[in-house]
Amino acid sequence: MPFIDPREHYRRIKTEIDFAITDTLSRGDLVLRQQLRDFEQHLADFVGVKYAVGVNSCYHALHFSLLAAGVGPGDEVITVGHTFVATVSAIVHTGAKPVLVDVRKDYNLDPDKFEGAITPKTKAVIPVHLNGRVCEMDRIADIADSRGIAIIEDAAQALGATFKGNRAGSFGLSGCFSFYPFKSLGGLGDGGAVTTNDPKVARFATLVRFNGEDRQTGEFHHHGYTALLDNVQAAVLDVKLRYLPKWIEHRREIARLYTKGLEGIESLRLPHFLGEEYFDSYQNYVIRTEHRNALRQYLKDQGVETLVHWPKPMWEHKDLALDNPGLLETENICKEVISLPMSAETTSEHVEITVGCIREFFSSCAATLRTAAAD
Ligand SMILES: Cc1ncc(COP(=O)(O)O)c(C=O)c1O
Repeated sequence: MPFIDPREHYRRIKTEIDFAITDTLSRGDLVLRQQLRDFEQHLADFVGVKYAVGVNSCYHALHFSLLAAGVGPGDEVITVGHTFVATVSAIVHTGAKPVLVDVRKDYNLDPDKFEGAITPKTKAVIPVHLNGRVCEMDRIADIADSRGIAIIEDAAQALGATFKGNRAGSFGLSGCFSFYPFKSLGGLGDGGAVTTNDPKVARFATLVRFNGEDRQTGEFHHHGYTALLDNVQAAVLDVKLRYLPKWIEHRREIARLYTKGLEGIESLRLPHFLGEEYFDSYQNYVIRTEHRNALRQYLKDQGVETLVHWPKPMWEHKDLALDNPGLLETENICKEVISLPMSAETTSEHVEITVGCIREFFSSCAATLRTAAAD
């Protein structure tokens, strides 16, 4: 059983996807055409902001957002240690210093740790809404706003998730999204977007994604980048965006089934952090156990593919030259987490098989593992 199934995903909406591609190609609409503008408008409406600017990855959305916030050499930007490396690389590439803090049990930024890490050099904070769960944005915004710190949301994994009724990507100066194929809204390859209510941020991203050029006047306003969301991609994403609410409901149902099936297993921690003010979109369903590696191997042997986000802390990748910030929770998470199959195509039968294998593992192997660990 694959973690996700891109062929089945395509098969289910093939007619509409094929039409979007051939229609766009037949019109010769390859770069900066109506399909891109339509998708940007629909995305902005969906997120609940005034502007969305299509770029070619969440990395670029983050980088451009930081630049728009005026982040540069000598500044510090606070974010979490438990995130994909692109969050931190975007900071490094501005010349600013990434300051990494720990996450809470829900894998998201701890507002107290954020507050404790602020210095006079702190220019921005990047809360990462991991696994499809929004950070505690009211507290984070209170802290950031009172200190004049810009909030740039890494919402790569959280399109459609809400906190207190507001969607990821609508809280900060800007929100940054990924349309990498395996995200909830996945394109044909790399893709991303900046969302914002600030016209200056929207204009900045619109210019720098296209080498700094204002297309109306031909004037170059910045030394920019080649980082546009391609028109064909936008046309396909626009089709898929219409399905997203249904897909998110499906993911939530799959998560509910996993939780029901796995409850009560000793030494297995489930994502039990509901809270009425949160609406999670379940990019990932992540469980935790100290027997992670053995469980993962067992599932693999049974034909169940799982993923680990991420097996070692970023600072242990020596060539990244990051200081070890000593984040205990992040280090433990790296040793213990495992993501179960989760997508719009995951079925209740898939869940039953995975749950059955996990239960089997714990009833047949865990006692042996406990003895081995104690010896
Ligand atoms: C939390 C997080 N931030 C940033 C990114 C980078 O996204 P992209 O691959 O679109 O640059 C990812 C991608 O996996 C991610 O999971």
